[in-house]
Amino acid sequence: MESSSYFRIRLTTIRPDKMTSFDIFLHIDGKYLLYLRAGDRLSDGKIKAMHGRDTGDTFFVRSEDKQKYRDWVREEMNSSLINPFEKAAILRESSVALMEDLFENPDVNQALDDSRPIITDFIDLMENAPEAMGFMISLSGHDFYTYNHSLDVSIYSLGLGKALGYDAKTLEELGVGALFHDIGKRNVSLDILCKKGGLTDPEWEQMKMHPQYGLVILNNHPNISDAIKAACFEHHESWAGNGYPQQLVAEEIHPFARIVAITDTYDAMTTQRSYNVPMSPLDAVTMMKEKLAGRYDPDMLKAMYSVLFKIKVAS
Ligand SMILES: [Fe+2]
Ligand SMILES: [Fe+2]
Repeated sequence: MESSSYFRIRLTTIRPDKMTSFDIFLHIDGKYLLYLRAGDRLSDGKIKAMHGRDTGDTFFVRSEDKQKYRDWVREEMNSSLINPFEKAAILRESSVALMEDLFENPDVNQALDDSRPIITDFIDLMENAPEAMGFMISLSGHDFYTYNHSLDVSIYSLGLGKALGYDAKTLEELGVGALFHDIGKRNVSLDILCKKGGLTDPEWEQMKMHPQYGLVILNNHPNISDAIKAACFEHHESWAGNGYPQQLVAEEIHPFARIVAITDTYDAMTTQRSYNVPMSPLDAVTMMKEKLAGRYDPDMLKAMYSVLFKIKVAS
């Protein structure tokens, strides 16, 4: 079936000894080779050997089986046979796949709808196994930076929202908003997004458009709340009023955007990117507190310490 299209999966989302409901293909030398037939199971030995080869772009499933694959992973997530750390790993892998859709699929609507169950899974995991959250943060892979970044910002934001006393419904909105905060980067050229070293002035102007681009994308979707849009459109505003694009001040900025401003900067500072050395969590928070304090809601910044402390203790 030459006309089939395929999407990438991580073999780590496939647990041994459970029958699959979809074919899995290997991608070698430009060809898709059937690796595991629907209805078969991976033996433990085989899966361990294959994990060694899983560079992130080796294993594929046919696009028409996407829903089957997702259902299978979700069922697996809810199985009592696996521990919270395995759940965290599976959840991470399946959410990276969602992020690819979000940033690459022309049909943003579908990806937006698909994000809700992922966020509720995050929230459930945070409620039932907070010890797995720090672990989940540590699982950043080698994918395009924006995917991991968006996931991490969403996870940190849920932690911060919980510390601020948000209820489950509000947390879900916050999680989705944080996940989409940089969705406008879809419209910024890859050359700029991936450029090593500093940006030129025109490139920087282009980059700074991403909150507006994001708002336009979200406005085209009927089920997106104003709070989610604010998390995207206002996340580069600054408490002191010198942010962009609207130069809002303090409480004029939506609380979701104030949260994302903190978790976004924190993640950027502590993550290895091609052009910087990651800071330790303590250095990052200290810098935010001392040098950048005016930019953030002071009460939220304080609450962020407690979140990071919990994550540190857990991991
Ligand atoms: Fe951003
Ligand atoms: Fe960001």
